[in-house]
Amino acid sequence: MADSLVFEIYRKTPEHVGALREISTLWRGEPGGFWAFDKVIEALQRPAIKLFFVANAGENRWQAAVLVDVGPYSADLLYVYVRPELRRSGVGRMAMENLFQWLANPPDLLSSKLAGSAPKEELLLEVRLSNAPAIALYESFGMTRISVRKGYYSNGEDALVFKRRIKI
Ligand SMILES: CC(C)(COP(=O)(O)OP(=O)(O)OC[C@H]1O[C@@H](n2cnc3c(N)ncnc32)[C@H](O)[C@@H]1OP(=O)(O)O)[C@@H](O)C(=O)NCCC(=O)NCCS
Repeated sequence: MADSLVFEIYRKTPEHVGALREISTLWRGEPGGFWAFDKVIEALQRPAIKLFFVANAGENRWQAAVLVDVGPYSADLLYVYVRPELRRSGVGRMAMENLFQWLANPPDLLSSKLAGSAPKEELLLEVRLSNAPAIALYESFGMTRISVRKGYYSNGEDALVFKRRIKI
């Protein structure tokens, strides 16, 4: 199933804005819900914040989304989210594989000011200590725990910080 999926960068088309609104609403309704739609839109005003969709080839229906903050030396993965009914079918893995590929050679950054030190060196992220599916996904990509941030989340939960070189 993951073979028929494409990884595409967010553009401000009505389809993409609608997809983002849907993701934001779905995730806000789940435990550990992330930013509301308006906050993601606000974040996307910064050129370094990039959003990707995983969609069915030839269709606009999204399956997953990835939000990343691309700095000059490292990138921070802000989130990876898979539509709930599609989990455990390889979509998250496909999203991570494509993210690493894009970071290793980000085509739309090469002609921009952000291109300075592209390709980026490391991918970093924080994840809730209780988020076993995400931790297993990151570990399956060879990401390693580098520290714990005590009480990082608003409910007091700790964050684990993971890191991996982009090119290995
Ligand atoms: C984490 C998440 C993105 C995984 O997406 P997914 O499409 O279900 O993942 P995949 O099917 O590609 O699985 C890839 C690997 O991740 C791990 N994994 C995924 N779900 C898992 C689960 N429920 N339990 C244990 N391991 C899991 C496994 O290592 C799996 O490899 P395997 O299938 O060979 O065992 C998805 O559960 C999700 O969207 N969760 C809500 C949002 C979230 O918490 N995001 C991360 C924090 S920002």
